[in-house]
Amino acid sequence: MSNSAPAILALCGSLRRASFNRKLLRHAVEIAEAQGAQVDVLDLRELALPLYDGDLEAEQGLPAGVQTLKERITAAQGLLIATPEYNHSIPGAFKNAIDWATRGGNPFAGKVALLMGASTGSFGAVRSLQHLRQVLMARGAWIVPTAVTVANAEQAFDDAGKLKEPSTVKLIGDLLTGMVAKL
Ligand code: FNR
Repeated sequence: MSNSAPAILALCGSLRRASFNRKLLRHAVEIAEAQGAQVDVLDLRELALPLYDGDLEAEQGLPAGVQTLKERITAAQGLLIATPEYNHSIPGAFKNAIDWATRGGNPFAGKVALLMGASTGSFGAVRSLQHLRQVLMARGAWIVPTAVTVANAEQAFDDAGKLKEPSTVKLIGDLLTGMVAKL
């Protein structure tokens, strides 16, 4: 572990303002900060990314939002991700962001990533996380072996937006402890 506070970039794979994954991410960020990590939360919605288009890239280069995304990934040692599952896979907007980020140099290599997912279904986005694991590993990221899944997400948070299930809160804390120790 380095002497300075480990830098973690937190990303949510849902653009939705009332997203359950935003809540999950926010709670995990609080836990990470309590453990001494320095967490940068990046809202993909603010990046206003266009759909990846090779012609657009060739004619105009990387859009400003893509450059921001790449810089913020590069500045982090660890990634904390919470994403939904759309049709058993990564939401298109999030995959689009990842695809853009890998253009003009790959910022994911060597990052340690903790994957989390909340869904209103009973599998807690686990299939999306499997695909995300494959995609990030293809770009050289180290994925924390255990993922955090939150099923039936509409019942999983209290009025303050905190996870209700103590075992999930403990799991996030334990996984973050392990991850931060490796940064
Ligand atoms: C979904 N949802 C969903 N849920 C699930 O458990 N498995 C799935 O395959 C899908 N597929 C799916 C596709 C599309 C296009 C949408 C919009 C939704 C439901 C999903 O879990 C739910 O909408 C979550 O609330 C999305 O996450 P956020 O936005 O709350 O973080």
